[in-house]
Amino acid sequence: MTALFRPRLLVAADALAAAAMAAERAATTLREQRLLGLATGATMLPVYDELARRLAGEPIARDRVVGIALDEFVGLPAGHPASFTSYLDRAFRAPLRLRPEQVVVPDGVAADRAAVAAHHEAAIAAAGGIDLQLLGIGVNGHIGFNEPGSPFDSRTRDVALAKKTRRAQAEIFGSPEAVPAMAITVGIATILSARSLLMLVTGKSKAAALAQALEGAIGPHCPASALRLHADAVVICDAAAASVLQDRHAIERMTETC
Ligand code: GLP
Repeated sequence: MTALFRPRLLVAADALAAAAMAAERAATTLREQRLLGLATGATMLPVYDELARRLAGEPIARDRVVGIALDEFVGLPAGHPASFTSYLDRAFRAPLRLRPEQVVVPDGVAADRAAVAAHHEAAIAAAGGIDLQLLGIGVNGHIGFNEPGSPFDSRTRDVALAKKTRRAQAEIFGSPEAVPAMAITVGIATILSARSLLMLVTGKSKAAALAQALEGAIGPHCPASALRLHADAVVICDAAAASVLQDRHAIERMTETC
Protein backbone atom coordinates (compact mmCIF):
# COMPACT_ATOMS: atom_id res chain seq x y z
CA MET A 1 0.00 0.00 0.00
CA THR A 2 1.35 3.45 -0.76
CA ALA A 3 0.82 6.58 1.32
CA LEU A 4 -1.86 8.87 0.02
CA PHE A 5 -1.19 11.60 2.57
CA ARG A 6 1.43 12.67 5.04
CA PRO A 7 0.15 13.41 8.55
CA ARG A 8 1.26 16.76 9.93
CA LEU A 9 3.91 16.07 12.53
CA LEU A 10 4.15 18.48 15.45
CA VAL A 11 6.99 17.89 17.88
CA ALA A 12 6.72 19.45 21.33
CA ALA A 13 9.61 19.70 23.77
CA ASP A 14 8.08 17.34 26.31
CA ALA A 15 5.04 15.20 27.04
CA LEU A 16 3.14 17.91 28.89
CA ALA A 17 3.57 20.42 26.08
CA ALA A 18 2.44 17.77 23.57
CA ALA A 19 -0.64 17.02 25.71
CA ALA A 20 -1.47 20.74 25.90
CA MET A 21 -1.39 20.97 22.09
CA ALA A 22 -3.73 17.99 21.85
CA ALA A 23 -6.03 19.40 24.54
CA GLU A 24 -6.37 22.69 22.67
CA ARG A 25 -7.64 20.85 19.58
CA ALA A 26 -10.00 18.72 21.68
CA ALA A 27 -11.31 21.84 23.45
CA THR A 28 -12.02 23.52 20.12
CA THR A 29 -13.97 20.44 18.98
CA LEU A 30 -16.16 20.52 22.10
CA ARG A 31 -16.62 24.29 21.96
CA GLU A 32 -17.83 23.94 18.37
CA GLN A 33 -20.38 21.35 19.55
CA ARG A 34 -18.68 18.63 17.59
CA LEU A 35 -18.09 14.99 18.48
CA LEU A 36 -14.88 13.77 20.07
CA GLY A 37 -13.60 10.20 19.69
CA LEU A 38 -12.02 9.25 23.01
CA ALA A 39 -8.83 7.26 23.52
CA THR A 40 -7.62 5.95 26.86
CA GLY A 41 -4.18 5.03 28.23
CA ALA A 42 -1.60 6.87 30.30
CA THR A 43 -0.62 9.11 27.37
CA MET A 44 -4.09 10.69 27.29
CA LEU A 45 -4.41 11.49 31.00
CA PRO A 46 -2.62 14.87 30.81
CA VAL A 47 -4.78 15.72 27.77
CA TYR A 48 -7.99 15.19 29.75
CA ASP A 49 -6.56 17.11 32.75
CA GLU A 50 -5.71 20.04 30.52
CA LEU A 51 -9.03 19.81 28.67
CA ALA A 52 -10.93 20.10 31.96
CA ARG A 53 -8.83 23.13 32.93
CA ARG A 54 -9.40 24.82 29.57
CA LEU A 55 -13.14 24.20 29.57
CA ALA A 56 -13.73 25.02 33.24
CA GLY A 57 -16.77 27.24 33.54
CA GLU A 58 -17.58 27.06 29.83
CA PRO A 59 -20.96 25.68 28.82
CA ILE A 60 -20.81 22.26 27.16
CA ALA A 61 -23.82 20.79 25.37
CA ARG A 62 -26.05 19.00 27.89
CA ASP A 63 -28.49 17.53 25.40
CA ARG A 64 -26.37 15.27 23.23
CA VAL A 65 -23.50 12.81 23.08
CA VAL A 66 -20.14 14.62 23.20
CA GLY A 67 -17.69 11.72 23.32
CA ILE A 68 -17.52 8.17 22.00
CA ALA A 69 -14.88 5.73 23.21
CA LEU A 70 -12.62 3.66 21.01
CA ASP A 71 -12.65 0.48 23.03
CA GLU A 72 -13.33 -1.48 26.21
CA PHE A 73 -12.16 -4.73 27.77
CA VAL A 74 -14.45 -7.72 27.27
CA GLY A 75 -15.64 -9.41 30.43
CA LEU A 76 -14.91 -6.45 32.67
CA PRO A 77 -17.95 -4.83 34.30
CA ALA A 78 -18.20 -1.11 33.51
CA GLY A 79 -17.75 -0.32 37.22
CA HIS A 80 -14.42 -2.17 37.46
CA PRO A 81 -11.71 0.41 38.25
CA ALA A 82 -9.58 -0.75 35.30
CA SER A 83 -12.41 -0.56 32.75
CA PHE A 84 -12.22 2.18 30.14
CA THR A 85 -15.70 3.23 31.26
CA SER A 86 -14.27 3.98 34.71
CA TYR A 87 -11.21 5.64 33.20
CA LEU A 88 -13.37 7.96 31.08
CA ASP A 89 -15.71 8.65 34.01
CA ARG A 90 -12.77 9.79 36.12
CA ALA A 91 -10.73 11.57 33.44
CA PHE A 92 -13.36 13.05 31.13
CA ARG A 93 -16.99 12.77 32.18
CA ALA A 94 -16.84 13.83 35.84
CA PRO A 95 -14.45 16.80 35.38
CA LEU A 96 -16.65 18.13 32.54
CA ARG A 97 -19.82 17.40 34.52
CA LEU A 98 -21.37 15.38 31.70
CA ARG A 99 -24.28 13.00 32.14
CA PRO A 100 -23.49 9.26 31.68
CA GLU A 101 -25.43 9.14 28.37
CA GLN A 102 -23.19 11.84 26.92
CA VAL A 103 -20.17 9.53 26.83
CA VAL A 104 -20.68 6.28 24.93
CA VAL A 105 -18.41 3.33 25.72
CA PRO A 106 -18.97 -0.12 24.18
CA ASP A 107 -20.46 -2.65 26.58
CA GLY A 108 -17.82 -5.16 27.69
CA VAL A 109 -20.14 -7.70 29.28
CA ALA A 110 -23.34 -8.09 27.22
CA ALA A 111 -23.66 -11.63 25.83
CA ASP A 112 -24.55 -10.72 22.24
CA ARG A 113 -21.19 -9.37 21.08
CA ALA A 114 -22.26 -8.74 17.48
CA ALA A 115 -25.18 -6.64 18.76
CA VAL A 116 -22.85 -4.60 20.99
CA ALA A 117 -20.57 -3.90 18.03
CA ALA A 118 -23.48 -2.92 15.78
CA HIS A 119 -24.88 -0.72 18.54
CA HIS A 120 -21.56 1.13 18.89
CA GLU A 121 -21.30 1.80 15.15
CA ALA A 122 -24.93 2.97 15.20
CA ALA A 123 -24.20 5.31 18.13
CA ILE A 124 -21.36 6.92 16.16
CA ALA A 125 -23.59 7.35 13.11
CA ALA A 126 -26.53 8.66 15.16
CA ALA A 127 -24.29 11.31 16.73
CA GLY A 128 -23.33 12.51 13.25
CA GLY A 129 -19.94 10.78 12.94
CA ILE A 130 -16.77 11.54 14.83
CA ASP A 131 -15.26 14.94 14.14
CA LEU A 132 -11.94 14.58 15.96
CA GLN A 133 -10.70 11.10 16.84
CA LEU A 134 -8.05 11.09 19.57
CA LEU A 135 -5.62 8.19 19.29
CA GLY A 136 -2.68 6.85 21.23
CA ILE A 137 -0.40 4.12 19.92
CA GLY A 138 0.57 0.78 21.44
CA VAL A 139 4.22 -0.30 21.54
CA ASN A 140 3.31 -2.76 18.79
CA GLY A 141 1.71 -0.06 16.63
CA HIS A 142 -1.90 -0.75 17.62
CA ILE A 143 -4.56 1.95 17.54
CA GLY A 144 -7.63 1.51 19.71
CA PHE A 145 -7.25 -2.23 20.27
CA ASN A 146 -6.65 -2.96 16.59
CA GLU A 147 -3.68 -5.23 16.99
CA PRO A 148 -1.16 -5.95 14.20
CA GLY A 149 -2.95 -7.96 11.51
CA SER A 150 -6.20 -5.98 11.82
CA PRO A 151 -7.62 -5.35 8.36
CA PHE A 152 -7.89 -1.75 7.28
CA ASP A 153 -11.54 -2.33 6.38
CA SER A 154 -12.40 -3.56 9.90
CA ARG A 155 -15.33 -2.17 11.88
CA THR A 156 -16.22 -2.45 15.57
CA ARG A 157 -15.70 -6.00 16.81
CA ASP A 158 -14.27 -8.17 19.57
CA VAL A 159 -10.55 -8.89 19.24
CA ALA A 160 -7.96 -10.97 21.07
CA LEU A 161 -5.32 -8.83 22.78
CA ALA A 162 -1.68 -9.38 21.82
CA LYS A 163 0.76 -10.64 24.47
CA LYS A 164 2.68 -7.35 24.27
CA THR A 165 -0.52 -5.40 24.89
CA ARG A 166 -1.45 -7.51 27.90
CA ARG A 167 2.06 -7.01 29.30
CA ALA A 168 1.74 -3.24 28.77
CA GLN A 169 -1.57 -3.23 30.69
CA ALA A 170 -0.26 -5.48 33.50
CA GLU A 171 0.44 -2.70 35.98
CA ILE A 172 -3.23 -1.69 36.22
CA PHE A 173 -4.39 -5.30 36.63
CA GLY A 174 -1.54 -6.63 38.80
CA SER A 175 -0.17 -9.15 36.26
CA PRO A 176 -0.36 -9.86 32.51
CA GLU A 177 -2.52 -12.94 33.22
CA ALA A 178 -5.09 -10.78 34.99
CA VAL A 179 -5.52 -8.56 31.92
CA PRO A 180 -8.63 -9.61 29.96
CA ALA A 181 -7.77 -11.70 26.90
CA MET A 182 -10.33 -9.92 24.70
CA ALA A 183 -11.47 -6.40 24.03
CA ILE A 184 -14.00 -4.67 21.83
CA THR A 185 -12.58 -1.96 19.60
CA VAL A 186 -13.81 0.26 16.84
CA GLY A 187 -12.20 -0.88 13.60
CA ILE A 188 -9.59 0.79 11.46
CA ALA A 189 -12.22 1.71 8.84
CA THR A 190 -14.29 3.28 11.64
CA ILE A 191 -11.27 5.31 12.76
CA LEU A 192 -10.51 6.38 9.18
CA SER A 193 -14.09 7.59 8.75
CA ALA A 194 -13.58 10.28 11.44
CA ARG A 195 -13.28 13.75 9.90
CA SER A 196 -9.92 14.43 11.60
CA LEU A 197 -7.43 12.24 13.43
CA LEU A 198 -5.06 13.29 16.20
CA MET A 199 -2.51 10.76 17.39
CA LEU A 200 -0.56 11.66 20.53
CA VAL A 201 2.72 9.83 21.07
CA THR A 202 5.02 10.52 24.00
CA GLY A 203 8.07 8.86 25.49
CA LYS A 204 11.02 6.86 24.20
CA SER A 205 9.13 3.57 24.55
CA LYS A 206 6.88 4.63 21.65
CA ALA A 207 9.66 5.93 19.37
CA ALA A 208 10.07 2.72 17.35
CA ALA A 209 6.31 2.30 16.89
CA LEU A 210 5.98 5.89 15.71
CA ALA A 211 8.83 5.51 13.20
CA GLN A 212 7.24 2.33 11.89
CA ALA A 213 3.86 4.07 11.58
CA LEU A 214 5.16 7.15 9.77
CA GLU A 215 8.15 5.83 7.86
CA GLY A 216 7.69 2.06 7.53
CA ALA A 217 5.52 0.17 5.06
CA ILE A 218 1.80 0.86 5.26
CA GLY A 219 -0.29 -2.19 6.09
CA PRO A 220 -2.11 -4.21 8.74
CA HIS A 221 1.20 -5.29 10.34
CA CYS A 222 1.28 -1.70 11.72
CA PRO A 223 -2.29 -0.48 12.33
CA ALA A 224 -1.09 3.08 13.06
CA SER A 225 0.34 3.30 9.52
CA ALA A 226 -3.31 3.64 8.41
CA LEU A 227 -3.08 7.32 9.42
CA ARG A 228 -1.24 7.87 6.16
CA LEU A 229 -4.45 6.99 4.33
CA HIS A 230 -6.36 9.88 5.98
CA ALA A 231 -6.47 13.36 4.46
CA ASP A 232 -6.60 15.19 7.81
CA ALA A 233 -4.35 13.52 10.35
CA VAL A 234 -2.01 15.20 12.79
CA VAL A 235 0.57 13.45 14.93
CA ILE A 236 1.66 15.32 18.04
CA CYS A 237 4.65 13.90 19.83
CA ASP A 238 7.42 14.85 22.22
CA ALA A 239 11.11 14.90 21.37
CA ALA A 240 11.67 11.46 22.92
CA ALA A 241 9.01 9.81 20.76
CA ALA A 242 10.41 11.56 17.66
CA SER A 243 13.96 10.39 18.37
CA VAL A 244 13.96 7.39 15.99
CA LEU A 245 12.38 9.18 13.01
CA GLN A 246 14.76 9.31 10.06
CA ASP A 247 13.32 12.30 8.25
CA ARG A 248 14.84 15.03 10.42
CA HIS A 249 14.10 17.61 7.75
CA ALA A 250 10.36 16.90 7.94
CA ILE A 251 10.45 17.09 11.73
CA GLU A 252 12.17 20.46 11.81
CA ARG A 253 9.94 21.86 9.12
CA MET A 254 6.82 20.67 10.86
CA THR A 255 7.99 21.95 14.24
CA GLU A 256 8.07 25.47 12.85
CA THR A 257 4.36 25.26 12.10
CA CYS A 258 3.42 24.53 15.77
C1 GLP B 1 -4.53 0.92 25.11
C2 GLP B 1 -5.66 1.65 24.38
C3 GLP B 1 -5.11 2.47 23.24
C4 GLP B 1 -3.94 3.30 23.73
C5 GLP B 1 -2.84 2.37 24.18
C6 GLP B 1 -1.59 3.09 24.65
O1 GLP B 1 -4.15 -0.21 24.49
N1 GLP B 1 -6.60 0.73 23.85
O2 GLP B 1 -6.15 3.31 22.75
O3 GLP B 1 -3.47 4.11 22.70
O4 GLP B 1 -3.36 1.63 25.26
O5 GLP B 1 -1.67 3.32 26.02
P1 GLP B 1 -0.65 4.18 26.85
O6 GLP B 1 -0.92 5.59 26.53
O7 GLP B 1 -0.95 3.84 28.28
O8 GLP B 1 0.71 3.75 26.44
